[in-house]
Parts: sequence; structure tokens; C-alpha cells
Amino acid sequence: MTTLDNKQTEAGLQRKLGLVGVTSLGIGSIIGTGIFTVLGDAVPLAGPAALVSFVLAAATCAFSALSYAELAAAIPVSGSAYSYAKAALGPLVAFLVGWNLCLEYGLSVGAVASSWSQYFHALLKSWFGVELPAALTATPAQGGWLDLPAALIVLLCTLLLVKGVKETSWFNTAMVILKIGVLVLFIGIAAFAFDPANMTPFAPHGVSGISAAAALLFFCYIGFDTVSTASEEVKDPQRTLPKAILASLVISTVLFCAVALAALGAMPAEQMAGNEALLSRIIDRVTGIGWGYWLLTVGAVIALTSVVLTVLYGQTRILFAMSRDGMLPKAFGTVDERRGTPVVNTLFVGILIALLAAFVPLDVIVELTTIGTLTAFAAVNVAVLVLRRTRPEMERPFRAPGAPVTPVLGLLMCLYLAISLPSVTWIRFVVWGAIGVAVYWFFSRRNATV
Ligand code: ALA
Repeated sequence: MTTLDNKQTEAGLQRKLGLVGVTSLGIGSIIGTGIFTVLGDAVPLAGPAALVSFVLAAATCAFSALSYAELAAAIPVSGSAYSYAKAALGPLVAFLVGWNLCLEYGLSVGAVASSWSQYFHALLKSWFGVELPAALTATPAQGGWLDLPAALIVLLCTLLLVKGVKETSWFNTAMVILKIGVLVLFIGIAAFAFDPANMTPFAPHGVSGISAAAALLFFCYIGFDTVSTASEEVKDPQRTLPKAILASLVISTVLFCAVALAALGAMPAEQMAGNEALLSRIIDRVTGIGWGYWLLTVGAVIALTSVVLTVLYGQTRILFAMSRDGMLPKAFGTVDERRGTPVVNTLFVGILIALLAAFVPLDVIVELTTIGTLTAFAAVNVAVLVLRRTRPEMERPFRAPGAPVTPVLGLLMCLYLAISLPSVTWIRFVVWGAIGVAVYWFFSRRNATV
């Protein structure tokens, strides 16, 4: 494995990322739309017990993160869950896992870009008093012509990715520092208005409310697995990847719980319902001055930019790995010698997602992102169980503690969240899977080298 890995790296991608860069990649993908908008939808379901929901959603991810950490260290190649499924479950399952990763990555980039467009527009209005024409900020289904800002942010991130992984990492790390700074500031300011009375009644809708909110808040944590798509561009991947996966999840979880606690302490839960710009409103209320809204909106624009950038990166590396195995056309696996990045792949993915973000209201189908992610997490937990049995001798620089209990718990929690998704999401998911099987049958099966 290691020899092959080095050859491929010599021939193409370059190992330029250290622990800070790759941990920032994880945090860059995790902290975004979820904490800035989904919190406002979760509190009405669970009340102040949304704090427990945050911990539950984090636990679901934590068990799967341990499995990711084990396999990222043992199989340090691009491709994330696709590559692990290939090693443990064979080419057809691997292809379908890769196909579903396009829902987690590609679709979520488009959906986050749409949110970015809304925050960016709000910033232009509050900062410069500039109002963009409705025709240029909404998709045809929303009554406009196209969502131009959403397409532009995807294209800008695409150009940065083409330039190089080092440049991408610098830019992303800077954005991660800024977005963490904005959230820490929020916690500090909101803490002054903490009123313990806002914590009662703690769980007005009981256990069912807490688990419904947890399913919603799972979206906040999606993204730590982006770390594992960078395996071939990380220095000393077998030691760095497990640390980066776990560190990005722990840092984000601590921040999320602290933001939620500060928010719930500063505003009664019943006033949070239906409030999209929740954090901005809380700061406004606490400080009583206008810059709070502006500050949090800037924070959201920065946070969402780094999600678009890093998740787009992850998508290109998954397609790169699939193409190298002959599962997809060769063009996706070609690396530009000078830049050390898969340029054709990146441009294709960037332009396609920019078009989708411009013309399709992706936020309507964003639950497909959750189901795509849950199947990938489930596959990784299964892969740990299978490989421990079939390849016990495999070198494992990191071993998931508590296995087989932890991967089994990870798998069960993924299934529990998946079955709580609406049936329309399942129907769309099955249609997407059927298209995937057709692509595998007519193209990948004939061309695959694995
Ligand atoms: N976790 C990412 C976000 O909240 C997908 O935007």
C-alpha cells in the first residue's frame, strides 16, 4: 500500500499539507450553514434541550470518526469512504459509496453556495445599501433568472483549487481562524446576557423532540471526513490523518455546544422559532447596537466560503480516486504537472456545480446530502468490521478504541438517523442509486481496473 501510494504521489498530487492545514480543512468543511442557520430550526423542536441534541449528533459522528481515523491511517489514499469500501466490500459497493459521496459533497456545495448568496446579499444591503436585482439572486423556480452570486462563489473557489493545494490551504486556514474568532466573540458577548431562567422548562417536547432536533443538527457536523480525501496531499498521513479527523470534530463540537449554550442563555427558546439569522439577532438584542448584525453576517459569509472551498476540494479528490481505478473517465484522474492539481476534474466539477447553484433551488433537496453522508459513514463502519476480520494483519497505525462495539454503534446510529428522514428523500435517494447502478453497469464495470 505504501509503495503504491508513494508512486502515485510522485506521479501526481503533492504532499504539502501539515497537521494545521489538514485540521483546518476539516473545520473549514464542518462549521458553516448548520450553526448559522439550523440552530434556529432545532430549538423549537427540543427547547433548551437542543444542547443534548447537539451532543447526540456529535456522538453519532464521533463513533464514525473513529472508524474513519482507523481506515485513513491504514489506507492513506485519496477517495475517503470510496477507497475504504473498495478495500473491504468490492468494486460495486465502492462505486455506489463514491456515487453517494457526490450527494454529500457536490450537492452540499451547491446548497451552501445558495445560502452564501443570501448572506452576501444581506451584507451588501446592510453595508453598502446595494440591492441586487431579484432576477440575479434567485433561481427560475424562485421567480428569478439565476442565482449569480452562488455561481460566482463556486467559480472563485474553483480557480483557487486549480491554483494549488498549498494556496487553498493558506486561504482556508485564514478563513477558519476568522470564523472561529467570530463565534468566540459571539459566545463572549452573549454570555453577558446569560439568564438561567431561559433554561426552563429544559425539554418541553421530551425525548422525541430531542431526537428530531439531533437529526436536524447532524448537518452541522458533516465535513470532518473531508480530511480523509486529502490523504495523498498530507505529510506523514498515517499519523496526521487520525489526529486531524478527531481534532476537527472535537474543536467543532466544543464550539457548537458553547454557541448553543450562550444563545439559549441569552434568548428564551420560544422567541427563537423561525429565526434564520438567529445569532445575528441575539447579538443585536444583547448589545443593542447595529454592528452585531453586520459582524455575524460577515462571519457567516466567511464560514460559508470555506465550506464551499473545502467541500469542493473533497469532491474533486473522490472523483480523482474513482477515475484512477477506471470507474470514471480518465480525465478526472489527470494531474497538471506544474500545479500538482487535477485541473480538468476541478474545472468540470466547479462549472457543473456553479450551473446547478445558479439555476436549481438546491436547498429543497438538501436532505439528500444527509442521506448520502449517512450511507458513507455506515459503509466506513462496516469496512472497519470487515477488514478487522478479513485483514487482521493489516498495519493499523491508529485502531478505533472499543471496536467492534464503536463501529457497530456508529452503524446503528447512522441507520437510526437515516430511517427518520422523510420518505420523499428516500425515493429520491433510490432514484439516484438506480442511475448509479446503470452508470456502473454500462461504464465502470467494463473499464474498472480493480
Ligand atoms: N457542516 C456543514 C455546514 O454546516 C455542511 O455548512
